[in-house]
Amino acid sequence: METVDPRLLKEIDEEKPDTPVGLLTDEQKDTLIERAFLGLYRWYSQRSQTKRNWNPDFDFDWRKFRTDHTEKVNNILEGFFAVEQYVPDYVFTLLRVIRKSHGRSHFHIRWGSEEEKHADLWENTLLFSRFRKPKWIEDYKHALREKEWELPWDCPIHMIFYTVVQERATQVNYLNTGLIARGKSKIEEFKNSADPVLARVSQVIAIDEAAHYNFFLEGARLYMYYYPTKAIEALHNVIKYFAMPAGDLIPGYDKFSEIVAKANIYGRREHMKDVLDVALENIGVKGRRALFKGIERIRQVPDESGNMRHTAIFDLLDYDGVESKVKRLFGRIADYEKDVGFDLINPTEFTPSGLKA
Ligand SMILES: [Fe+2]
Ligand SMILES: [Fe+2]
Repeated sequence: METVDPRLLKEIDEEKPDTPVGLLTDEQKDTLIERAFLGLYRWYSQRSQTKRNWNPDFDFDWRKFRTDHTEKVNNILEGFFAVEQYVPDYVFTLLRVIRKSHGRSHFHIRWGSEEEKHADLWENTLLFSRFRKPKWIEDYKHALREKEWELPWDCPIHMIFYTVVQERATQVNYLNTGLIARGKSKIEEFKNSADPVLARVSQVIAIDEAAHYNFFLEGARLYMYYYPTKAIEALHNVIKYFAMPAGDLIPGYDKFSEIVAKANIYGRREHMKDVLDVALENIGVKGRRALFKGIERIRQVPDESGNMRHTAIFDLLDYDGVESKVKRLFGRIADYEKDVGFDLINPTEFTPSGLKA
């Protein structure tokens, strides 16, 4: 009987990667994440073009915009206008970090084209409210653009979680502004602020922000699924240090945040309840407390495999839920590819992470 040379067996063994059977290598994970981002970006672009292709000038009845809004309402519009003024910085700072990913970087350019419309839409509300002279608005714009927004984290994984929280926060801001514009605010001083044009503005932008939130959320879940340890660490960091973009650049931002907080648009309560709790649930994390307690445990467990600290992670994560959402995303991409015919050439297919037996 022929026997295999033990030296050869040893050699073969040494050639094998360190990754245990059933687990994916980082390279395989990165490929899967990239394919999913690319598929999701294609799906998103098609929807954006067919369903949300609005124009900030012609799709609103500007002549009917109220010119007698209270000072507070006008301050709110100015604040939104100011935050959206930094869109060039929002685009190119992150683009530099994610440029190697086709799906993420091309999505980011499209995302920027939608955010650019938000800036223009808020400018129109400022102009047509007649609260300030056009010269004031111009000078304000110049003053804002003198400063540059900088990336809060120079890391693609951190930034996906940052954008999840930020987009959800923005959506909440605009939805609650929509309540005021529909005359539905419970606060006395906003009870007479109904304005159908502003209501439509808030609604149209909130729908965009929801679409942005969903894109980043799907992306966040990809990292949570394939790189749970890194993702949890990044998410924890982002939540701990989160601040709305450009708050430190906009003159009088403190006054603006006080106004929006008192108007029940966006304050600490909304941030915790309507932003963080919702985002964490969607990401698959079992709550704020679980995250902050869990992170301590994860850090105490030695990470000898260089891969993950199973028990501690799965205690604070609904990993099965994350998996089913990731699978659903791959399914949606597969359907899209079938519609185009990509499936005949190079279909995108789901591969389990193998992290949880
Ligand atoms: Fe926006
Ligand atoms: Fe957005």
